Amino acid sequence: MTEPQKPATAPATAAPAAAPPVATTSLVSSVTGEILGDIANRRRRPDPTAIVIFGATGDLAGRKLAPALFNMMLDHAMTEPTLIIGVSRGELSPAQFADHLRPRVTEFSRQKVEPAMWDKFASTLDFVGGDFDSDATYAALKLRLDAAATRGTRNRVFYLSTPPAVFPLVLQKLEQHALIERAVQTPGKPSCRVIVEKPFGRDLASARQLNEMIGGYLDESQIYRIDHYLGKETVQNILVLRFGNSIFEPIWNRNHVDYVEITAAESIGIEGRGAFYEATGVVRDVIQNHLLQVMSLVTMEVPASFSADDIRDEKSQVLRSVRNLDLNDVANHCVRGQYRGYRQEDGVAPNSQTPTFAAMRFMIDSWRWQGVPFYLRAGKRLAERLTEVNIHFRAVPLVLFKEEAAGSVLQPAVLTLRIQPHEGISLRFVAKVPGENINVGNVVMTMTYADAFKRPISEAYERLLLDCMRGDATLFNRRDSVDRAWELIQPVLQIWEATPGVHIYEPGSAGPAAANDLIGRGGHTWRELCRS
Ligand code: BG6
Repeated sequence: MTEPQKPATAPATAAPAAAPPVATTSLVSSVTGEILGDIANRRRRPDPTAIVIFGATGDLAGRKLAPALFNMMLDHAMTEPTLIIGVSRGELSPAQFADHLRPRVTEFSRQKVEPAMWDKFASTLDFVGGDFDSDATYAALKLRLDAAATRGTRNRVFYLSTPPAVFPLVLQKLEQHALIERAVQTPGKPSCRVIVEKPFGRDLASARQLNEMIGGYLDESQIYRIDHYLGKETVQNILVLRFGNSIFEPIWNRNHVDYVEITAAESIGIEGRGAFYEATGVVRDVIQNHLLQVMSLVTMEVPASFSADDIRDEKSQVLRSVRNLDLNDVANHCVRGQYRGYRQEDGVAPNSQTPTFAAMRFMIDSWRWQGVPFYLRAGKRLAERLTEVNIHFRAVPLVLFKEEAAGSVLQPAVLTLRIQPHEGISLRFVAKVPGENINVGNVVMTMTYADAFKRPISEAYERLLLDCMRGDATLFNRRDSVDRAWELIQPVLQIWEATPGVHIYEPGSAGPAAANDLIGRGGHTWRELCRS
């Protein structure tokens, strides 16, 4: 532990001085993470599975999916025989497909790619080249899957890592070739499941259409809508922190919480994805999915159990209690920004109004959260990469410390759930600085995963792929919550797309000043973003 430095002087018995600025200093508590066991009783290993990746030569497959599968193999998470079949245009042999993936896996894998391990992984790869509208592609795929089934790989996961526009075609062909069938899952029966990548639609109407279309082929239990944020350890820990400790739940409500901020700041820009980003923007890319999901985990009621549907029922319920935004809310409680230089990126229109930053305030009309503002903020090319939830607790009633200075010296406690990087949890509170007067300083108690558990944190995609192979949909989005999330941001999209007015902000900053005004109107402040 370190001593707080530069304490602020709180009122003591002597006459109060003018309110001095409060210095926050940190102290690191040492934490030992003792592993107590699996409270959700997940089965460790999935059945042998054939994973078919549509769009196998694309960016996601190279950056996330193949590295995740490689690491799952290294961690013995999968059951042999596992087969990974890439489907894409072009003719590649399995060896050429492996060669294509190798540099990407080497770059993005969290564990080192040793030649022997790579050879083992490469031996699980196969490739089917062809157009998605060609029957020959699916006939070839069926041959491979039938052969794999004779070796024991009867479960099938189809990963649609393609633009949503081709989902209907692929599903129709998969059904036509008897590669998928609508089923109610029964234990012991071979399963077929489909993973759909985000963006899941581009607005409420298209998301509903997409849900309708997929629902025409598959039962909801077979549809895995991925939101990789839900696979992050720290996001999953929100539920364990809240419901695995009796100390948080009694204060997790409007009586004790003043406001909550959820920030997803990125220092990178759009990374060459100009055309995609122009059609998407930060609201569709991050707020509609990642941030509203995090908010639902922070605010949901206690589920009846840790089962997929009990958790998803509660998430969906709280999203239904979020107050719809009206014209006035969009004007006064939503801010859009664009980093200077965005318009010069490849594939971006010279007069683009696409927001690369957005901040918005949501209110939740529920017994627990009435009157507590939830501020969400996300952006690219900001001062630092950081995703964090900050729960700001109410100020103490100033009955004990009556002097004027007390109000500015006694800062309310803040609980920070650090999603990434430096994953962990910290609590800021005030403490008395040793000495004759009652001097107070802010102190911060921090737990980091790295220190506490001394084990590597696996990538979100590893967890999600594994869960899908096991048939556990807890961490995937259900139709109702996707629908509701679109409904919530629909007014923002509509108004912003109809009226120009994006604020330009400097790369490396905290976003447009208007975002500070937004939160400032409630008497609140954002967590500061600092250049690292
Ligand atoms: C993706 C967005 O869903 O999430 C990207 O499309 C964004 O634009 C990314 O950069 C952020 O994910 P992470 O895990 O790096 O925080």
